[in-house]
Amino acid sequence: MLFHSHLSSTHLFPVLLLVITTLLGGRQLTTATCHVDDQAGLLAFKSGITADPSGMLASWTPGSDCCKWSGISCGDNNRVTTLSLYGQLQKPNSFLSGTISPSLSKLPYLDGIYLQDLRNISGPFPNLLFGLPNLEYVYIENSKLSGQIPGNIGDLTRLGALSLAGNRFSGPIPSSISKLTQLGQLKLGSNLLAGPIPLGIQQLKNLTLLSLDTNQLTGTIPDFFSSFIKLRTLALSRNKLSGKIPASISTLAPILIYLELGHNDLTGKIPDFLGKFHALDTLDLSWNRLTGTVPKSFGNLTKIFNLDLSHNFLVDPFPEMKVKGIESLDLSYNGFHLGEIPKWVTSSTIIYSLNLAKCGIKMKLDDWKPVETYFYDYIDLSDNQVSGSPVQLLNRTDYLVGFWVSGNQVRFNMQNLKFPKTLKELDLSRNLVFGKVPKAISGLQKLNVSHNHLCGSIPATKFPASAFVGNDCLCGAPLPPCKI
Ligand SMILES: *[C@@H]1O[C@H](CO)[C@@H](O)[C@H](O)[C@H]1NC(C)=O
Ligand SMILES: *[C@@H]1O[C@H](CO)[C@@H](O)[C@H](O)[C@H]1NC(C)=O
Ligand SMILES: *[C@@H]1O[C@H](CO)[C@@H](O)[C@H](O)[C@H]1NC(C)=O
Ligand SMILES: *[C@@H]1O[C@H](CO)[C@@H](O)[C@H](O)[C@H]1NC(C)=O
Ligand SMILES: *[C@@H]1O[C@H](CO)[C@@H](O)[C@H](O)[C@H]1NC(C)=O
Repeated sequence: MLFHSHLSSTHLFPVLLLVITTLLGGRQLTTATCHVDDQAGLLAFKSGITADPSGMLASWTPGSDCCKWSGISCGDNNRVTTLSLYGQLQKPNSFLSGTISPSLSKLPYLDGIYLQDLRNISGPFPNLLFGLPNLEYVYIENSKLSGQIPGNIGDLTRLGALSLAGNRFSGPIPSSISKLTQLGQLKLGSNLLAGPIPLGIQQLKNLTLLSLDTNQLTGTIPDFFSSFIKLRTLALSRNKLSGKIPASISTLAPILIYLELGHNDLTGKIPDFLGKFHALDTLDLSWNRLTGTVPKSFGNLTKIFNLDLSHNFLVDPFPEMKVKGIESLDLSYNGFHLGEIPKWVTSSTIIYSLNLAKCGIKMKLDDWKPVETYFYDYIDLSDNQVSGSPVQLLNRTDYLVGFWVSGNQVRFNMQNLKFPKTLKELDLSRNLVFGKVPKAISGLQKLNVSHNHLCGSIPATKFPASAFVGNDCLCGAPLPPCKI
């Protein structure tokens, strides 16, 4: 287009110069500001925000190039394609208050809306999403949106991901959700959603992640998993789901990595086929009413890092696991009589959390020599028949945060206990602990040494009397004063 054949080489040079200067000048003009509609839509969004204490939107000023505003990116045509604003949960000031302005619908090229952890955005489902023809990714997580998810949510057929997790949406999951067949991720966890899991979800064959956890969903878990060929994460925990673990979950065996069904009302046995989930690294079946034994096939779960079967009615024998390194294990409050801490636990070099409360453990703490203690955060051996002293163990666990051994026969002089600097919670109640209460307890957040053989005056403490009662001769606040 620029070089016409009739131009001789002698004419070419000045023409080229002219072309180049025109192009450069033109570019400077067009990059000065983003499209006027995009800017107007974003400024309207900003005016819907009533508090922005950390200045997340400080760069959003009229007249400046909105493609350069924080949280905004533009495509080749200089039109806004994504809006991504992230709060930081650990920073108290890092939130936004207000509502999502309908004027965002002025941004026709928007393909992704990421409003994550902003905590205080309220109002109903943003219906403006229906007016954005290019929208593919919606993550509006951890805010205070409320009301029902609209019945026509299925009209957003282009969506590749939909997350409304961590809001206050109530009512049913609309059945039209079955039309969102492009979805790779559907996250509706931590809301107030009720009613059954819609059967139509089985149409979403592209799902790699389905999380509906922490709602009030009822009914059985639909037996529809044979239609999911890509699912890697399934989280249905913390609902009111009842019935058995459906048989079709077995079809997910080759690729499922994460399975969370805890805190429901599930009954029946743990199916044998779960042992075929060779890729599984997390399995949570805790707080249900599962009965029977843990299948022998579990021995084949060699990649399982996090296993939580606590608070069911499971009984012996517990299978010998072949896992190389368990990271967190909770078998507490079942009908197990393990006798000792399993070898595959003691030999793990990466374990950080162990809960074997009421697992029928009979041992002397001094005899337990975990291969590696470096990563240990939590150890709970409550309500077993554990004797001996935890002094050596706590001397080896430099980063321990919680240690619970209540309801055992632990016998040692508490003055000899070296507190890991990180220790926050210590429960030694209902044991045979003697000596004095060390001053180091003042650094803890939770303490219970009740019902032991401790003696002497209690160091200055914020803990209530119930943390100290039932000892031989402890005295001073919060117990009655010492007799001099
Ligand atoms: C959260 O938003 C509500 C309603 O917009 C407002 O009343 C409240 O003050 C906000 N909270 C904080 C901590 O700013
Ligand atoms: C599923 O995902 C693939 C790519 O991951 C995509 O090509 C396809 O269009 C998606 N939709 C359906 C219905 O399979
Ligand atoms: C473990 O897997 C192997 C090989 O896939 C199989 O032969 C064996 O029967 C399995 N063990 C159990 C207890 O299921
Ligand atoms: C704690 O461990 C250190 C070395 O790691 C050792 O010198 C010390 O004696 C131990 N203390 C107790 C009470 O076991
Ligand atoms: C301490 O433990 C006893 C018995 O285990 C319990 O009754 C009491 O409520 C506990 N107190 C505190 C402060 O945890």
